[in-house]
Amino acid sequence: MKVRKKFLPFSRPSIGKSEINKVTACLKSGWITTGVLSKEFEDNFCKLSGSTLAVSLNSATAGMHITLSALNIGPGDEIITPSMTFASTVNMIALSGAKPVFVDIDYGTLNINTNLIEEKITKRTRAIIPVHFAGAPANMDKINNLARKYNLTVIEDAAHAVGTYYKGIHTGGFGHTAIFSFHPIKNITTGEGGMVTLNDAALEKKLRLLRFHGIERDAWKRYGKGGNPSYDIAAPGYKYNMPDVLAALGLAQMERWQEFNQKRTGLAQLYLEGLKDISGIDLPEVPAYDHTHAWHLFVIKVHAVNRDEFMNRLSDYNIGYGLHFPPAHALNYIKAGYADNIGLLPETDLAAQKIISLPLFPDMREKDVEYVCKAIKEIIKNG
Ligand SMILES: Cc1ncc(COP(=O)(O)O)c(C=O)c1O
Repeated sequence: MKVRKKFLPFSRPSIGKSEINKVTACLKSGWITTGVLSKEFEDNFCKLSGSTLAVSLNSATAGMHITLSALNIGPGDEIITPSMTFASTVNMIALSGAKPVFVDIDYGTLNINTNLIEEKITKRTRAIIPVHFAGAPANMDKINNLARKYNLTVIEDAAHAVGTYYKGIHTGGFGHTAIFSFHPIKNITTGEGGMVTLNDAALEKKLRLLRFHGIERDAWKRYGKGGNPSYDIAAPGYKYNMPDVLAALGLAQMERWQEFNQKRTGLAQLYLEGLKDISGIDLPEVPAYDHTHAWHLFVIKVHAVNRDEFMNRLSDYNIGYGLHFPPAHALNYIKAGYADNIGLLPETDLAAQKIISLPLFPDMREKDVEYVCKAIKEIIKNG
């Protein structure tokens, strides 16, 4: 087949007129850092997730950092999470001083295997951090029951999960804290950004303090007419607030999340159809329970050809790809520091050798998917 001239990226944000108009209006307004737009973005996000509160941030990683900190998670604590996740979560656990305790995944869906969580719970366990992998929800009934039984906190890693529903409930809508990411490859973007959704007003207050130096009032209130620019700090905090210029982009993207997810779902169905007869690859499986998939990623597993070789061959066809994720338990510092509590993670290890994320983004065309499917057929045929 003829190789396309233009590189097909793995992901690309969809930025249209509404985004440009909203960001331009913010730039012209004279107020570009945290203010009314980030508040509006938070309110809109509550409506989507079904949570009562939301705190906007400059990344999901920042959200995980201050959530663990606000919950006083630290040395002596254990946090249960899959190893098949982005390093940022595990970094934040490690930096808090707590121990990450890994639970294996289900090879088909790449989601945490909730049947294996209970055996990892000890007296030291404080929290479970499930990941709604690739936009498919984790089994929340199982997780909620365990959290109730052992009095554990649940922090949903919803970085992939704008538009993900479990039995009709949007991620973040189960009464727990959930953390969303708006990195450019995510289902909606603010360039960089994150949102913590929650229902606990005391925790929200702590998060708001921790995200902005520990200062009690927002800058826009201090610098507005009649505002008091003085401040006091009871406990020091970080600098993790989301500026309005990014919230403006987020507000425009939120109006389009359904359109984006419909496109992603349609393209994922085309991939499933176009790749179904190819032996030597495993297609992503979806959970058996009732759910709506956000199709943040389309991850196949390649076993007919060496995965890294397969990546090189995709490059020859001018096709981009991603790797979600190198498993956390294989990272050097985890192997060195937590060797005794890694345990066996056979399905994670199996998947880790074979996974590769194919291009998937809302402005991708159907013929791009057809091109990728044809290229994969050729690569597999030629061994
Ligand atoms: C599963 C998961 N968790 C957390 C994050 C962190 O998000 P951010 O880049 O907004 O900090 C990501 C981002 O890629 C992710 O994929």
